[in-house]
Amino acid sequence: MITLGIETSCDETALALIETADDGRIRPIHSLVHSQAELHSAYGGVYPSLAKREHSKNLVPLLHKLMIEAGAALRQQTLVPSWKASLESCRAHMGAQNPELFEALMAADFLGSKPPIDRIAVTEGPGLEPALWVGIIFARALSEIWNIPIIPVDHMEGHIVGSLLPHDLPFGSWLSLPEVRFPAVVLLVSGGHTELVRMEAIGSYEIIGHTRDDAAGEAFDKAARLLDLPYPGGPHLSRLAHEAREQDIAAPVDLPRPMLGSGDLDFSFSGLKTAVLYAVRDAASGGPLTDGFKRGLAREFEDAVVDVLDRKVCAAIDRTTAGALIVGGGVAANATLRERLSATAQNYGIPLHLPSAHVSGDNALMIALAGTLQTLRDPSSAHTKTPGEIRAFGTKKLGRT
Ligand code: KG4
Ligand code: ZN
Repeated sequence: MITLGIETSCDETALALIETADDGRIRPIHSLVHSQAELHSAYGGVYPSLAKREHSKNLVPLLHKLMIEAGAALRQQTLVPSWKASLESCRAHMGAQNPELFEALMAADFLGSKPPIDRIAVTEGPGLEPALWVGIIFARALSEIWNIPIIPVDHMEGHIVGSLLPHDLPFGSWLSLPEVRFPAVVLLVSGGHTELVRMEAIGSYEIIGHTRDDAAGEAFDKAARLLDLPYPGGPHLSRLAHEAREQDIAAPVDLPRPMLGSGDLDFSFSGLKTAVLYAVRDAASGGPLTDGFKRGLAREFEDAVVDVLDRKVCAAIDRTTAGALIVGGGVAANATLRERLSATAQNYGIPLHLPSAHVSGDNALMIALAGTLQTLRDPSSAHTKTPGEIRAFGTKKLGRT
């Protein structure tokens, strides 16, 4: 069984293919991510209508590229002479919702040869609503043309299962996911979410802590912006923090570690961002910010976020007597966080599952994998769904059990 994954929840247009064997082994075939970050950087953040336009423009050529590059895995194709008529029958709703994507599909003659793809896994939420809809309409059109079912996938579940993939991801080779020692604690840290999750099994999640305001990635991005760094600022701020450590530059101010004494597993990062704003304002009153100041402040900011995340992770492990720690989401790429959580997992004597560089940011491999795992445990979850049934309103939250 081959699953096509589609991810358009934010500013990455991504497609991937994964194959599953009856014994549960999987074979990642190919994965493509087209980032729009540079376009959005002019706005200092993701601009939803631009994201919608870019996804609409990029999906069809990206699928063509994926099919060509997947090579032998997709060689056995069958002709679908009626594909244009099938698509035409969707014109009333799809053409009205997204004329640009609809016309691009109509002109894509390669769709008349059906590759051996058995189902489509598409991100249905959470994410930016206009961006999510592009992926869903695209999935719906392919499902119509090729007569294959759709599996709606929760983006955050994608980040969780993506972290279980091996780091030396061997595209084209069969592999088994590691046996996770449940219950596991999951730390999800992305641009839109910061959550602690108690995970009983793949597909069974309980949110035990969440941010009350900004997400960790959002805090990184906002602090980076105050330091005049480009969007998305997380990796840039982290680079400055690394330089500060290398050059032994101390923090120019002490930043708070919010919510450490809250007695629960919740987070709050907006105060930290405000503290950075005041520090920058005070320093700027004496002249332009020096590189040394920026580096020192970046280091203190990163340390503050990592201190809080780590302490809450420890509290979550204590509370749940977790057998494993899983970390997912874009901020999981942060080297300081990875080091600290490695030490924590080692102290507890539990395995740590971190995402590899390829899957820490948004990608479709994790979506294809989550969809695949969902149908392995519940074959009825894959049936052809209408866009109305796939509730993409950006409101769906991980948390179903
Ligand atoms: O999961 P993701 O790719 O997209 C969302 O689903 O939100 O996460 C993106 C977030 C951004 O806020 C970005 O600045 C942050 O992850 N990020 C980092 C690093 N790499 C990406 N934050 C801190 N350090 C990094 N190295
Ligand atoms: Zn994400």
